[in-house]
Amino acid sequence: MTVTITRTQRRFVLPESELPTHYYNIAADLPVPQPPPLHPATREPIGPEALAPLFPMELIRQEVSAERLIEIPEEVREAYRIYRPTPLQRAIGLERALDTPARIYFKNESVSPAGSHKPNTAIAQAYYNRAEGVTRLVTETGAGQWGSALAFAGAMFGIETKVFMVRVSYEQKPYRRSFIESFGATVVPSPSDQTNAGRAILAADPDSTGSLGIAISEAVEEAATRDDTKYALGSVLNHVLLHQTVIGQEAIAQMGMAGEEPDVVIGCAGGGSNFAGLAFPFLADRLAGTRQTRFLAVEPASCPSLTQGEYRYDFGDTAGTTPLLKMHTLGNDFVPAPIHAGGLRYHGMAPMVSHLVDQGFVEAKAYPQTACFEAAVQFARTEGLIAAPESSHAIRAAIDEALAAREAGEERVILFNLSGHGFFDMAAYDAYLGGGLADGQA
Ligand SMILES: Cc1ncc(COP(=O)(O)O)c(C=O)c1O
Repeated sequence: MTVTITRTQRRFVLPESELPTHYYNIAADLPVPQPPPLHPATREPIGPEALAPLFPMELIRQEVSAERLIEIPEEVREAYRIYRPTPLQRAIGLERALDTPARIYFKNESVSPAGSHKPNTAIAQAYYNRAEGVTRLVTETGAGQWGSALAFAGAMFGIETKVFMVRVSYEQKPYRRSFIESFGATVVPSPSDQTNAGRAILAADPDSTGSLGIAISEAVEEAATRDDTKYALGSVLNHVLLHQTVIGQEAIAQMGMAGEEPDVVIGCAGGGSNFAGLAFPFLADRLAGTRQTRFLAVEPASCPSLTQGEYRYDFGDTAGTTPLLKMHTLGNDFVPAPIHAGGLRYHGMAPMVSHLVDQGFVEAKAYPQTACFEAAVQFARTEGLIAAPESSHAIRAAIDEALAAREAGEERVILFNLSGHGFFDMAAYDAYLGGGLADGQA
């Protein structure tokens, strides 16, 4: 009997020396500029001074920059080297299980200290804050991934960190809280009684499960009212998306190692940062008209800002304290059902991602959570990785692309972002495996 072994490369690993040296700023390549943030009272574009109480000047400069490449400071690159470059992997087991002619690749951001892509910007934000003498940062977290990332980065750069954690996640994931605290940060469930915004929500609904919009209001309020404290945001804003572009730049090099170019690039989208991080460097060619790559942002059906929201100016938070951002929004008072993908429960979307959807460069799709867990379990059994519930949305879309390729009898190269692991989300898997998980609930 002869045994035929197909040898196919599974992992594409870059040496440390290939870590990107610059962030890629897509604003420089847009055919139509992104609508600017507005002052809520005057409805005039805001100047840098409006953001100065919240962010250090370098991050404000990056927020409005039109410079195509922004150099990554050496100290930031040194911290990245703890886990970067991250591997690109080919999902051969999944391809076989789907019996598809498609080739599926994923960028594995779950290997970072926090377990997701979030440290890519947390490290940069901690660095730029410390460089301007900031000693204390406050933030919000949904799933806990962002809070973990900022706590880790705060520990690295000697910054005290406080995290308002959306109450439903605080209760669903007690070990995520311990994880954040292990890095020395303080965690407070939101809504809390520590801010005006939190107290107002609790007065109206003492059992509020919270939302990212509410937690942002609490963190922004604390930063704006304390001289020693600045605010850090884990998604949505341009400078955050910018820092994430290390993902896509590495992926371009790694797809080159595999001898492939993606036909479709997929990411889940909560505030839009991991999707943007993978997609934007590839989008440069699409914007230049040299490639026809498709880009797909995937969101939960119970928080469908891109697929069902309106594209208009809205506040980034619930209390209405931020500048007005032009984005796809479900309304800043929208409180999504407490689904397990806590990081995708945001009423709005990154203005830059919204703009690219509006301009027809990016497609969007929404899935209910049970369909995503089904995909995540198939991925676990074929690739050996437990995905974060957020990332399972990208896996679902990648599987559906591969099945569509099978139906059409065509080859298709699919690239998705595995934005994080689900090691702190076993209660969610437990609910799914036990048959007790419905769409639109915890
Ligand atoms: C693993 C993971 N993926 C995705 C997201 C969604 O955020 P974004 O759309 O900014 O990538 C989060 C947010 O917490 C997350 O933890």
